[in-house]
Amino acid sequence: MEMCGPNIVSTTGDAWRRQRSIVAPLINEKISSATWDETRAQVEMMLNAYTKAGPTGTTSSVLGLKQIAFNVLGAVGYGKPQEWVDVALPATDTRGNDFLDVLRNLADHIVIAAMIPAKVLLSPVMPRFVRDVGTSLIAFPKHADTLVAEERQSRSTSNNLMSTIVKLVDEAKGDSKTYLSKEEISGNLFLFTLAGYDTTANTMGFALVLLAIYPEWQKWLQEEIDQVAQGNHEYSVSYPQLKRTLAFMFETLRVCTPLLHALRESAFADTLVCAQGLSHPIPADTELLLSFTVLHCSPIYWGEDAADFKPDRWLKEDGSRWNEPLTKGTFMPWSFGPRNCPGMKMSQVEFVSAFYTILRHCTIEPVLQDGESLDQARHRLNGILRDSLPLITLQMQRPEEVRLRWTRRG
Ligand code: HEM
Repeated sequence: MEMCGPNIVSTTGDAWRRQRSIVAPLINEKISSATWDETRAQVEMMLNAYTKAGPTGTTSSVLGLKQIAFNVLGAVGYGKPQEWVDVALPATDTRGNDFLDVLRNLADHIVIAAMIPAKVLLSPVMPRFVRDVGTSLIAFPKHADTLVAEERQSRSTSNNLMSTIVKLVDEAKGDSKTYLSKEEISGNLFLFTLAGYDTTANTMGFALVLLAIYPEWQKWLQEEIDQVAQGNHEYSVSYPQLKRTLAFMFETLRVCTPLLHALRESAFADTLVCAQGLSHPIPADTELLLSFTVLHCSPIYWGEDAADFKPDRWLKEDGSRWNEPLTKGTFMPWSFGPRNCPGMKMSQVEFVSAFYTILRHCTIEPVLQDGESLDQARHRLNGILRDSLPLITLQMQRPEEVRLRWTRRG
């Protein structure tokens, strides 16, 4: 995880504590507000393209959302907004030239980038795309240095993640508690993109397919969205009212958890007591694997309908307050404790903004194959959803087989 510099995932102890205390608080309400606006703008561009596709629909819906997740990070993380472009259109090959291309190339091939040293990736016997990953790996820290230098020179007033890190580090003037080295700036910028991209992108992808499978939940979400949409669409006004959309995110994360488990090591001997009262002695220095997937789907904690997709399980009957899981610590897609996810709120805002905008304007349906009934089409989509693998985060293996029709609402 250090291929672009030391960061808060690759470190432990004092080095982690120092970096975490500097970078985690930067994902604040300013970032949330910018995320809300940028996501809405990106979704509007996507809807313009997909609603024009007509009854044959599009097979790039899941990838379209992935692009939104990346573009939001480009804008909010680095102050580099980009237009949303349909992946179905022929691509221009600029790999290795522009900072965002380098970043996207690494984020899209993170398993290769993380496992194989750049020297090996660049070997002439490697296929072209693998060599591109190697070129990007070498290019990223140089790009990050240039961006930071440009930021220092321009002394901009922007509030993106990169400019805020630079300001903070400069103000620290070498104070060892609040300082990040050049390599740590590059490492953390890269890490935030990596940690925020695939997780949010895949969650939105799964959610979209779930919407196509369960039209009844689209209607349920639209009831609330239509009411909220009568306001001014601002983050501070709209977001807190969209309880059903956030419940929909929680339920998506429960049944399609992007990071399947947490790995921990016991610093000292301890005893774990589980909900059923059973005690498990844990010796010191034991590696522990806590499965989020098992926790999230266990009928012991979620009831007999644990396997069903029911976003309303997260709301009380009057819809006004969160109905937390009955047993504390049974829902943790953003992990828990001091190393939990600092991007939790940002991902929630992005998800809610995306589906607020999508469902305000559109209804999504599966496009039927020859001779297929609607039920069979839903069943087929469910099969695609289940054919997912954890490539660091859980991802669908056949997203291009999801053909959806996007119809503008009257
Ligand atoms: C739905 C979206 C997201 C999910 C499900 C998610 C989940 C997680 C989980 C489970 C961890 C802990 C991993 C572990 O304990 O081994 C984590 C850590 C982290 N996440 Fe997220 N995340 C999401 C979005 C984001 C976003 C948007 C960002 C930032 C832009 C982000 C930044 C990070 C960072 C920097 C860490 C490392 C924290 C540390 O080690 O101190 N995440 N995330």
